[in-house]
Formats: sequence, C-alpha cells, structure tokens
Amino acid sequence: MTADLFEGVLDAGPARQEIAEGAILLRGFAGAFEHDLIPALRAVVEQAPFRHMHTPGGRQMSVAMTNCGNFGWVTDRTGYRYDAVDPETGRAWPAMPAVFLLLAQQAATRAGFAGFAPDACLINLYEPGSRMSLHQDRDERDFDQPIVSVSLGLPAVFLFGGLKRSDKPRRFRLQHGDVVVWGGPSRLFFHGVAPLTEGEHDSLGRQRINLTFRKAR
Ligand code: SIN
Ligand code: FE2
Repeated sequence: MTADLFEGVLDAGPARQEIAEGAILLRGFAGAFEHDLIPALRAVVEQAPFRHMHTPGGRQMSVAMTNCGNFGWVTDRTGYRYDAVDPETGRAWPAMPAVFLLLAQQAATRAGFAGFAPDACLINLYEPGSRMSLHQDRDERDFDQPIVSVSLGLPAVFLFGGLKRSDKPRRFRLQHGDVVVWGGPSRLFFHGVAPLTEGEHDSLGRQRINLTFRKAR
C-alpha cells in the first residue's frame, strides 16, 4: 500500500514509456511549454528559413530543415556536418531560445539523462508525404549525451529499430507534444519516420515539426 502510494508520487507527471533500453517516450511532455515554444519557433524560422537540403548522393530531402543553437546539422554534396554558420544566409544560426533549452533539459532529466547540454537543435518540417529513412545520428562527438526529439503538429509514425540497419523497427505513433529521448545503449539505434499522412492540425495546420536536440561538439 505504502509502496503503491510512493510509486504514484514518483510517476507523477506525463506518462513515461520505455520503448527500448535507454529510450523513453514521454507522452505530451512538451504541452506545458507550448505557449512559449511556438512563438520562439516562429522567430527562429524567420531568421533561418526552412530549406530542402541535398544528401551527399545528390538527392533532395523531402523534409525541409533549419537549425538553431551554436551548431546546425547540414548536408550537401560534400557530406554531413555540423556547421556554426548557416550556408544559406552566411550568418550564425539563431541562438537556441531559452524555452527550447529548458524543454530539452527537463525531458532528458525525466528520461534519466540529467546534465544534458545540447548545443544544436535541428528543426525538421514534414508535409504530407515527407518521410525520413532509417538512419543513425552519428555526426556528434560525444555519444554519452542523449538525443531529445520533440514532435509538434500532425501525428507521425516513428520507426525505432536497433543497432543494425536490418533490425526490424518498431512503430510508435507520435502526437503533438510527445517527446522521445534516447541515449545509453540505444544512442546509436536506427530510426526514421514513415511518410506523413494527410491531415490538418489545430494550431500548426498541414505539417509536422520535429525538434531534435543534440550535443554536437
Ligand atoms: C530525425 O531523426 O532527424 C527526425 C526524427 C523525427 O522527425 O521524429
Ligand atoms: Fe535522427
């Protein structure tokens, strides 16, 4: 009885689901930040507009991207890299808004990764039909730091596999406000997003936005 009560207290807050060892899905975790998050996002995108980057193989990505923070993830014919400068504008990426950092750090802590210090936030824009094929996030220097991934707008099916590309991914439906954190044993797990289906979200319209926080350097 006492144990049950304490368990209730420890579990207070949004639902927390372990989807793999070191990978935690926090349903609705970003909801409490939404009021400041969306205007901050709009301000970032005004300074560094979304663009469709090209893979090293020369294909244009169906997801449009931008970044904020000290470093931005970019891809072009020369490969993938983190860059302090936005190649489109020639300027530094917009600073990471305080509410972004707070959300990322609180989600990481809730998932068991206290002390997360992201210096990069990749912002992905999906429209119906956009998809992200299975990949590992491995352009960062320090794999001890987790990844925090925030979903906004239209729902999507998140694919979460294993250490090998051939590991069959499990499918998780991510909704507006859901946050996935993965690190430790699953830090290098393959993941991706199934083609977005048609829809209209109440506040964001016909799109899904994903914020991916990482410690790049
Ligand atoms: C990514 O892996 O870069 C994006 C994941 C997502 O959009 O949920
Ligand atoms: Fe990724």
